[in-house]
Amino acid sequence: MDSQHADGFDTLAIHAGQDPDPVTGAVVPPIYQVSTFKQDGVGGLRGGYEYSRSANPTRTALEECLAALEAGPAALAFASGMAASDALVRAACRPGDHVLIPHDAYGGTFRLFDKVLAGWGLTYDSVPMSDPAAVRAALAARPARLLWIETPTNPLLSIADIAVLAGIAHDTGALLVVDNTFASPYLQQPLTLGADIVVHSTTKYVGGHSDVVGGALIVADAALGDELAYHQNAMGAINGPFDAWLTLRGIKTLGVRMDRHCDNAERIAAYLTHHPKVATVLYPGLPDHPGHEVAAKQMKRFGGMVSFRARGGEAEAVDICNRARLFILGESLGGVESLIEHPKRMTHASVTGSELEVPGDLIRLSVGIEDCDDLLDDLRQALA
Ligand SMILES: Cc1ncc(COP(=O)(O)O)c(C=O)c1O
Repeated sequence: MDSQHADGFDTLAIHAGQDPDPVTGAVVPPIYQVSTFKQDGVGGLRGGYEYSRSANPTRTALEECLAALEAGPAALAFASGMAASDALVRAACRPGDHVLIPHDAYGGTFRLFDKVLAGWGLTYDSVPMSDPAAVRAALAARPARLLWIETPTNPLLSIADIAVLAGIAHDTGALLVVDNTFASPYLQQPLTLGADIVVHSTTKYVGGHSDVVGGALIVADAALGDELAYHQNAMGAINGPFDAWLTLRGIKTLGVRMDRHCDNAERIAAYLTHHPKVATVLYPGLPDHPGHEVAAKQMKRFGGMVSFRARGGEAEAVDICNRARLFILGESLGGVESLIEHPKRMTHASVTGSELEVPGDLIRLSVGIEDCDDLLDDLRQALA
């Protein structure tokens, strides 16, 4: 039956790449826990499957769903967000190339460029991506193969203007890469704003239940997708069928989870704004956040991550993290349960001493989907 309009996000999350199994009618894709596939005579592949590093039906279902959610022609799933990033850089760049990375980014991304890819012959500069003039100047001074951004950033929640940076990148022949982990495709679709490649740590909101590590790349150009698929197979950092299945199960509720994450985060950000022990709240949904207007333009809502700076400094920030009870002290983010962490000593320890170093008084909250009154009670006692 011809439909009058394209399927909406929540419909795609539940159905894209996930037609009932043609053999049994199973309504969710089975976990094809196999390494190899019988061939109908030499070279006679059934449905294109020969060996699960190259392709596996459960992973295909996840990749088709991710492509649909990010509005791209192709997606590739990996063992982790870092595996996806590494595969992308080594497919798109060559030793001697230059890239621009954010001033403010996930510490592991910085470590990949600074410690691993530097040894492979890649150079980088870090630039404040919320300042398009600074990006333009950096690219004029030295062309780059990739302009790599996060928006909102981890952990300072600064915002970069995807459409503006896509224009700047393309003027100089660079590709714009957007790490969309914090927003998720429900809140922001970078390819529709001109980006070339989206990176996800699907470990976070996409999976959503803190039970699986994974990563993904979604591309605007199908030819680049083929190149990445070649590298995915050649380098082999794929996720296994069970991990792909868990991620896909999480995706089905992405939209409803994100709305609840946003509801709770908005209330918590507002509460912290008035707390005497809090010096600054970093949440793009607050009207006085420097990136608020850009975020309102390119995001559906403002996400579930809230950072704040403790008036009492680093020791106080550490104490608050240790006193929280419902907010579990832990790394990672984007799961249904709320987490609290001290970025300087935890997720961002690897950027100490670099331009990306984060303040010691900073606390990062991954606001979960629990009853918000309970979360507020916990913060009240942790800040007391
Ligand atoms: C913004 C961002 N990008 C990438 C990653 C890396 O993802 P993974 O831990 O799945 O390798 C993380 C992990 O925290 C992240 O926060």
